[in-house]
Amino acid sequence: MSILSGKKVLLGVTAGIAAYKSASLVRALIKAGASVRVVMTEASKEFVTPLTLSTLSRNEVHSSFTLEDDDNAMWTNHVELGLWADLMIVAPATANTLSKMANGTSDNLLLATYLSAKCPVYFAPAMDLDMYKHPSSEESFEKLQSFGNVMIPATSGELASGLVGKGRMAEPEDIVHFIQEDILSKLPLKGKKILITAGPTYEAIDPVRFIGNHSSGKMGCELAYRAASLGAEVDLILGPSNIKVTHSLITVHNVVSGQEMYDAAHSVFEQCDVAIAAAAVADYKPVNAAPEKIKKNDATMSIELVKTKDILASLGNIKKEQYLLGFALETENEVENAIKKLKKKNLDGIVLNSLKDKGAGFKTKTNKITFIDKDGTVTPYELKTKTEVAVDIFDKIATKIL
Ligand code: CTP
Repeated sequence: MSILSGKKVLLGVTAGIAAYKSASLVRALIKAGASVRVVMTEASKEFVTPLTLSTLSRNEVHSSFTLEDDDNAMWTNHVELGLWADLMIVAPATANTLSKMANGTSDNLLLATYLSAKCPVYFAPAMDLDMYKHPSSEESFEKLQSFGNVMIPATSGELASGLVGKGRMAEPEDIVHFIQEDILSKLPLKGKKILITAGPTYEAIDPVRFIGNHSSGKMGCELAYRAASLGAEVDLILGPSNIKVTHSLITVHNVVSGQEMYDAAHSVFEQCDVAIAAAAVADYKPVNAAPEKIKKNDATMSIELVKTKDILASLGNIKKEQYLLGFALETENEVENAIKKLKKKNLDGIVLNSLKDKGAGFKTKTNKITFIDKDGTVTPYELKTKTEVAVDIFDKIATKIL
């Protein structure tokens, strides 16, 4: 998954020869996980067909203020298009369109949509070298950037005129890369490293049996996705779980036992800024795992257990600047017990789940948490999806570490 995954991208195509590259740009955006809608100027249809772009974007392409069908004329809502977008890219952006954008001219659908858009706008100029260097083009570039629009500079090379110089639109993959880097650089947790433990652990009894628990790992995985969507680099140390996590900013360390989770957590803890222990680590493990499958010879059997290492407490012991967050699952005197845990493990915060709350805990899509700070502030939340809970938790963490 890339940072563009799930983003709604509005691509504006204007009438330059580079419009033929719009098809590749749409494909690259779709490949990066974005939903794409295209708005074209009438003249750009001479360079690339709406059919090509609608097929690749899997969406209708808009170019006119009205949609004509046999009997009715329908208005194309440029405001809706502009508000739909999480980001708008004008590529190729001709000197003519850039000048109109810079001056508030609104004589086609693309320009009206640009003026209605509230999202970040990127523009990738494409023109001949003398046009690119003309003071009026430079003025458009500067004016648009002063509005907060982001310019994706043209590159140098052979131009359609046969002249060689600056003016070629950036290549589609480079445009996508540029935008991804730009989005990332502006995210609040950019440059932060976050360690998250998640899922159950399995403690071997023999080669085929284990002690485990019902944790799905969902809460920890949602936390990992949230951290990554805020720009952090995440080490997700994941016990046996059916969830497949894929994101360019998340490194998944698959582990099975508590000892493996302990080792993996310690190997990345020193470099991290935030560590969150969301795993349901087995509290006990067999003193000795049998090397061969245990036969059912006797009517009863007992297994001697020993405590597993407490990963969170061990991180609390060695922590320096790291912000350390734990989870507590309680059934009685919840807040009091969670605060005790927070102090004992030297934490900065603890997320309390009460098993008394319906919809909280293992194997559910929802969770009901209370966030407790080390200064004693207790913040209860409503029952929410685990995705929403992850947002709440990172909103809290952000106020502590930024
Ligand atoms: N934890 C851990 N390593 C362990 C056990 C727990 O990292 N071996 C972490 C969990 O990931 C969680 C917190 O410690 O963040 C839970 O603390 P724990 O003392 O296990 O409390 P509970 O599981 O809530 O239960 P109990 O009250 O039985 O101790």
